[in-house]
Amino acid sequence: MREIHQDRPLLLIVDDIPDNIHGLLEALKEDCRILVACNGAKALEIIQGETPPDLVLLDIVMPEMDGYEVCRRIKAHPAGKHIPVIFVTVVDSTEGKLKGFDMGAADYVTKPFDIDEVRARVRTHLELSRLQRHLENLVEQRTAQLEKSNELLETRVREEVAKNREKDLVLMQQSRLTLMGEMMRNVAHHWRQPLNALCLILQNIKEEYELGELTPERLNQQVETGNRVARKMSATIDQFRNIFSNDGEPVRFSLLESVREALHLLDATFKNEQINVTLDTHRDIFVKGLHHEFNQVLLNVLINAKDAITAKGAGGDIAIRLGIDQQNGVIHIRDSGSGFSENALSMLFTPYFTTKECGTGVGLYMARMVLERANGRIEARNVEGGAEILISLPIQE
Ligand SMILES: Nc1ncnc2c1ncn2[C@@H]1O[C@H](COP(=O)(O)OP(=O)(O)OP(=O)(O)O)[C@@H](O)[C@H]1O
Ligand SMILES: [Mg+2]
Repeated sequence: MREIHQDRPLLLIVDDIPDNIHGLLEALKEDCRILVACNGAKALEIIQGETPPDLVLLDIVMPEMDGYEVCRRIKAHPAGKHIPVIFVTVVDSTEGKLKGFDMGAADYVTKPFDIDEVRARVRTHLELSRLQRHLENLVEQRTAQLEKSNELLETRVREEVAKNREKDLVLMQQSRLTLMGEMMRNVAHHWRQPLNALCLILQNIKEEYELGELTPERLNQQVETGNRVARKMSATIDQFRNIFSNDGEPVRFSLLESVREALHLLDATFKNEQINVTLDTHRDIFVKGLHHEFNQVLLNVLINAKDAITAKGAGGDIAIRLGIDQQNGVIHIRDSGSGFSENALSMLFTPYFTTKECGTGVGLYMARMVLERANGRIEARNVEGGAEILISLPIQE
């Protein structure tokens, strides 16, 4: 920030013949402090010195370096850029004046001097220069203030973004835990039948041994069957475990396969609740998105549909339809529950909104996050006889 002189302004008069400026000195010495330089080099030295002047009165005709060149150099120097230069000359040609203005001069006074006019011009340019500096200082101050506010704002935004990310991670974890609970029930169901089969095999081995019927071939056969059942159980665990892994990047995957996988994982629940599921699709659609997270979204939406149906009474229907809308693959999931209440429709995708006794209210919020991260969408609406959720992701051929 440049300093504004509070006391009398400092004037630099540049002329090679001191007698020429005697009159000027007399006229201005009361209003200003005055420095004199008898050539261009000396003038430039003062400009670049510790106390540069507030205004320069510059003679044009001088040996070695004329006034035009001195002016050009003053203006080219950072310290002189803002100092007004008034040419003092006998030359009164328009061409000479234009050349001076081209070099950055602020004004002209011609010899012989009209002292009052010179005083008035000097005063005007000092005032203009003072005002300009004042304005520049104000602009500098405001710019600094703005920069500081911007920095503050940026820090705030960064902090908020970090906080939100943390919150989303917690919510994601919560949503996953809820889903895991639901899935454990399904694993238990999936295992019930093969576990019974294993018990039966063991029982058979024992009985055949006691009856003396357990030949080596028979034993091998029973063990082979037991192994097959155990492999099936292990595959079920893999399927369920797969659901809870995360993708870092969007990948291409089949919508139909995702739907079938989700239905397979929930088939026990649906059977138990007497829910009839139909899947209507003409052909498979390949989309790009976060595959595993998408499967979790499907499970969440299907479990919501199941909850809506069971809340209404025993049994019902879920109709799933795959379709294409512009460049997106869309899954429509329609259920025969009571539909969304008006309040629910406006709050569905807000974290912690739930109408269930044991709900966490993060399922649909996370669903939207997961889909939007991959340029997908989720929408909800009421249709005749229940609710419908639409999930879409960009098609990837
Ligand atoms: N198919 C549906 N029919 C009617 N209401 C629904 C349906 N799906 C969601 N809702 C309403 O939206 C609310 C929010 O659903 P969301 O999946 O986000 O949370 P939640 O199911 O309550 O809890 P959770 O976190 O365990 O999933 C539900 O509580 C329910 O009121
Ligand atoms: Mg839910």
